[in-house]
Amino acid sequence: MAELRGLQGKHVLITGAAKGQGFSHAKAFADAGADIAALDITEPIPDAYPLATAEMLDATVADIERRGRRCIGLPCDIRDESQVQASVSKALEFFDGRIDVLVNNAGVAALDPIHEMRSHIMDAVIDTIVKGHMYVAKYAVPNMIGRHAGKIINISSGVTGAGVAMLSHYVAAKHAINGLTEAWAFELAEFGINVNAVAPATIRPGAGQGSGMVSGLAESLGISAEDAYEQFSAVGNMPGDKWRTEMHHITDAVLFLASDNADQMTGHVLSVDAGQATR
Ligand SMILES: NC(=O)c1ccc[n+]([C@@H]2O[C@H](COP(=O)([O-])OP(=O)(O)OC[C@H]3O[C@@H](n4cnc5c(N)ncnc54)[C@H](O)[C@@H]3O)[C@@H](O)[C@H]2O)c1
Repeated sequence: MAELRGLQGKHVLITGAAKGQGFSHAKAFADAGADIAALDITEPIPDAYPLATAEMLDATVADIERRGRRCIGLPCDIRDESQVQASVSKALEFFDGRIDVLVNNAGVAALDPIHEMRSHIMDAVIDTIVKGHMYVAKYAVPNMIGRHAGKIINISSGVTGAGVAMLSHYVAAKHAINGLTEAWAFELAEFGINVNAVAPATIRPGAGQGSGMVSGLAESLGISAEDAYEQFSAVGNMPGDKWRTEMHHITDAVLFLASDNADQMTGHVLSVDAGQATR
């Protein structure tokens, strides 16, 4: 039977790990024998839908520990370089100086027509997704360079495979993630570091520590989260009921890219997008 190799004992830093897909990835890495640094914002961003809370971050740490692995919770707004520097340094201390895998997963979106773009929301989206992950990489990568080993997985989006209205700040930021993936893959190749991305389709929303992005966008459309999920999936994905994406589909791809099985993959954006890119 084929199995994912090389995840046991790995040290994994995940941004946006207190809820949604990041939490799902954290649990799966722990079940595969990895230890986790769970980084997440614990303060709301003004006018953005609800993000993680300090309670969710604590619950994440407790959940990973229940799975028999070590976990540190790192409250951090990745838009702030000094907070990122301090958090990565705490993660390195917790991990005895070694980060093996970095999952750049945190993200936020909003629905803004171009002619009514709210500049503070544009900043929140672009600063989190683009600059935030550049900061995290800036402080995590020297450790990987020094050891000539490491895997970076960036979370892009299916929106980079098709035109999507009302989300242009988010679409632009996710295109930047694809660009960063290629640029970092090239720059870090000589140090033996793999850099790839996963581009998810619309993910089924969930309450609490479930995925919150679709629920957040649904609220501004005045429809239910389930209706928004169905609508976005029906419009974007391949036709047919099969093409409905859940968090675990993305987690499977992230773990694959972090494993030894993906050692010869770098600079790749792996679409788990229910066919969006080909429509
Ligand atoms: N939900 C979807 O349909 C969908 C589809 C494609 C891609 N994605 C991407 O998947 C990733 C995870 O999204 P999700 O579905 O789990 O949504 P989510 O809202 O449940 O999770 C996003 C996480 O990012 C964190 N975060 C946001 N801004 C932050 C900041 N400035 N600093 C630190 N942490 C911050 C949030 O607190 C939260 O934990 C995001 O990058 C998102 O863009 C989501």
